[in-house]
Amino acid sequence: MSPLPVILLGGGGHAKVVLDLLRVLKRNVLGVCDPGLADQGIQLWRGLSVLGDDHAVERYAPADIELANGTGSLPGNTLRYRLHTQFTRQGYRFATLVHPSAILGSGVKLGQGVQIMAGVIVQADSRIGDNVILNTRACIDHDGVIGDHVHVAPGAVMSGDVTLGDGCHIGAGANLLQGIRLGSEVVIGIGTTVLTNVAAGHQQTGQPPRAPRRINEE
Ligand SMILES: CC(C)(COP(=O)(O)OP(=O)(O)OC[C@H]1O[C@@H](n2cnc3c(N)ncnc32)[C@H](O)[C@@H]1OP(=O)(O)O)[C@@H](O)C(=O)NCCC(=O)NCCS
Repeated sequence: MSPLPVILLGGGGHAKVVLDLLRVLKRNVLGVCDPGLADQGIQLWRGLSVLGDDHAVERYAPADIELANGTGSLPGNTLRYRLHTQFTRQGYRFATLVHPSAILGSGVKLGQGVQIMAGVIVQADSRIGDNVILNTRACIDHDGVIGDHVHVAPGAVMSGDVTLGDGCHIGAGANLLQGIRLGSEVVIGIGTTVLTNVAAGHQQTGQPPRAPRRINEE
């Protein structure tokens, strides 16, 4: 059975990347819904018909289409989460999209609406929740457990056996030690190295280098 046609939600920066991915995957994209574009009377965006604001989705039956969430995810911005939960409640499904350049190990499980961008690596037995973005060149090593609505930003590295609670944001280029557990809604700043667990609702930033010490010193 061929995949269902797709409607893209949002016409910003993340949506451009999602649209490129849909095109690489040769998905039939019916158009884009974006209140900003609709308000400006723009009819065509990157070759796609502007269907209207988000309510334009409701002209299609949930069984006939899939949605692609083109809204990005940054700390404090809940639009992506809200669109996912609202349309899921209405019976719509979000397409799970994996860039052909990504590498998925054995036993990897992906939730609904996961977006895996170019160059991502997900190693064996990792589980990725719903509406997660694994952004460009991110890495989830073996046995990772990634909650719903998490964004792992470009180039961030989760070592083996890392657990991220729902709604975490892992800043670009961050590094997490193996076995680290983050509670829900944790924010890790760009470039931060995380060596200890972080409780739910906390933010950790910074990169204090320690004084060098000789390895194997008695
Ligand atoms: C963690 C983050 C959300 C903090 O944002 P914020 O709460 O608005 O914090 P501010 O920018 O006001 O910075 C507060 C302080 O922390 C410092 N800081 C912020 N992020 C930092 C980081 N990653 N490393 C070191 N210091 C950082 C700021 O320099 C500032 O220091 P000051 O008080 O001495 O001036 C943000 O810096 C971040 O890293 N966002 C992730 C971005 C990302 O992943 N982008 C990719 C998108 S695809």
